[in-house]
Amino acid sequence: MALLEIKNLSLYIPTGTEQVKALDKVSLTLAAGEIKALVGESGSGKSLIIRSIIGALPETWSVKADRITYDGQDLLNMSRNQRRQIMRRDIAVVFQEPTSALDPSVKISAQIQESIPDEFIDKGFIWQRWKQRQQISISLMHKVGIKDHERYLDCYPHELPTDISQKLMIAMALASEPKILITDDSTRGMESTTKTQILRLLSKLNKTKNLAVLFVSHDLLAVTNMAETMTVLYCGQTVESGKVKSLMKKPLHPYTKALLDSAPSFQVSLPPKSELIALKGTIPTLQHLPIGCRLGPRCPNAKKECVVTPIPRKIHEHQYSCHFPLHFPNVKGPDKEVHL
Ligand SMILES: Nc1ncnc2c1ncn2[C@@H]1O[C@H](COP(=O)(O)OP(=O)(O)OP(=O)(O)O)[C@@H](O)[C@H]1O
Ligand code: SF4
Ligand SMILES: [Mg+2]
Repeated sequence: MALLEIKNLSLYIPTGTEQVKALDKVSLTLAAGEIKALVGESGSGKSLIIRSIIGALPETWSVKADRITYDGQDLLNMSRNQRRQIMRRDIAVVFQEPTSALDPSVKISAQIQESIPDEFIDKGFIWQRWKQRQQISISLMHKVGIKDHERYLDCYPHELPTDISQKLMIAMALASEPKILITDDSTRGMESTTKTQILRLLSKLNKTKNLAVLFVSHDLLAVTNMAETMTVLYCGQTVESGKVKSLMKKPLHPYTKALLDSAPSFQVSLPPKSELIALKGTIPTLQHLPIGCRLGPRCPNAKKECVVTPIPRKIHEHQYSCHFPLHFPNVKGPDKEVHL
């Protein structure tokens, strides 16, 4: 059974007089101990998926899904308190903007201490508990590569360099020894040694603690080094999903191919907000969504049949949503089955 399962998640955002469908039947699973990358151009909906998982959405937005479960528990229909408990202990998120996730009015030492669950601290006098929390905080900082902890413990968030804030967010996320870590582009802009250090730490925790990671990134080189499986998202629709090796070797969806072609030999990561050089045009805004397959206006293979939204199809563990998948010339449109 998947540890995290999202099935047919749609998210509606009100804009003026109408509601736009920002996520359109997105599906994604994460098994215990799996590292899955979630990739797609800027604006494809990666952060919205994360916010839907943790339930951090404005009340005016509406979520529809066949299910969103953690370890078999229905996240959508449990109480706010139960969901918060799961987020506090089992699913940790490192947000895209580290400084906005830290409380500007509280010193770093207090914020790290706060992230350590009470159960991890032995009973004793207040000062003994404080000392134990402080020791754990320092060891977490060392784990993520902040060696000179004295320099930062007494600081407020605005006094920290960005890469230290990013590392602190990761340290705080790991404090509860979660089962799932979701990182939203959290190594963005880090210099390469620091990034390698963080990615190694995550790989190590994955191997030694069976930590499952949902790794959201624009950095295709890191994705190919880190993740075994990958889900590709375009404009709120899941377009392809499967083993990283298989997607790289034989992408079935034109968008996946364009994404891979955009990062020649993967030596450069795709900068945020960058356009895909392999495809004309840009990702549409939510107010101007094409009908059917949302890649239609940019897709080199589009045909009239593509005004019908393609349903997901599966070949072994490889899933794709396209009427005319690459490498399968015998597939002839929406209502035909794939013949292998
Ligand atoms: N608060 C909001 N109100 C209205 N629309 C929003 C809001 N947040 C996101 N969106 C829209 O939802 C879509 C998906 O946004 P999202 O932030 O999930 O993209 P992303 O894939 O995380 O991009 P990036 O790689 O730049 O982080 C975009 O079209 C964005 O404009
Ligand atoms: S369904 Fe049509 S428009 Fe969409 S990716 Fe496939 S070929 Fe292109
Ligand atoms: Mg984002």
